[in-house]
Amino acid sequence: MLKLIRACKIYHNSGVCALREVDLTVPRGAYMSITGASGSGKSTLMHVLGLLDTLTDGRYLLGGTDVSALPPCELARLRSERIGFVFQRFQLIPGMTALENTALPLALQGIPRGERQRRAAQALEAVGLSDRLAHKPGQLSGGQQQRVAIARAVVTRPCVLLADEPTAGLDPAAAGDVLSLLDRLHRAGNTIVLITHDRAAAACAAKRLYLENGRLSG
Ligand SMILES: Nc1ncnc2c1ncn2[C@@H]1O[C@H](COP(=O)(O)OP(=O)(O)O)[C@@H](O)[C@H]1O
Ligand SMILES: [Mg+2]
Repeated sequence: MLKLIRACKIYHNSGVCALREVDLTVPRGAYMSITGASGSGKSTLMHVLGLLDTLTDGRYLLGGTDVSALPPCELARLRSERIGFVFQRFQLIPGMTALENTALPLALQGIPRGERQRRAAQALEAVGLSDRLAHKPGQLSGGQQQRVAIARAVVTRPCVLLADEPTAGLDPAAAGDVLSLLDRLHRAGNTIVLITHDRAAAACAAKRLYLENGRLSG
């Protein structure tokens, strides 16, 4: 349901060709990891898959729709409805509680307050944080913050969860917690693309792919 066909990305400001004729199919329910050295194009691939950036050449089909020619407002709508993001640095809003952070994507979709809070509380329970709803990011450990970020990413029930180095800033125990959580989400039916340079993390995925200098191989 996510499909890249001969996808190329050139950053015109630097002249760097970050993706070279990448063919990739991510079926529904897949758990895929993409590894590669720093600078190999991992984040570029995630940004393209997540509709945060566009291709220079090639096609991207999301749920059968060719998104290459869509205007920015349509891309933003699709992104909010279909994509869940998890980043290395959590990207939580410091002044908001765990519950408010998790509910935020639902607010952007215009979902009423009561339902937002109910679904956000459910998502936080699913990541093992029902006793931290009113805590702000600064009152949580790194591992707990990343679990809030994962709750926020799945609260909209996206088509795909895109995680870019989600364990890179964590100690081994917290990283292990995040990986078992991703595994649990996969078993519950979520589609996951895990981008990482950590081989142990990559080994958790059912299918492993490698990026080298913008080229993807299996
Ligand atoms: N916004 C940008 N503008 C110009 N060049 C970029 C930009 N983002 C990434 N690049 C270049 O594209 C290549 C791939 O970067 P990136 O996708 O961030 O790799 P990775 O996530 O694997 O470290 C690098 O050579 C990088 O310098
Ligand atoms: Mg990166």
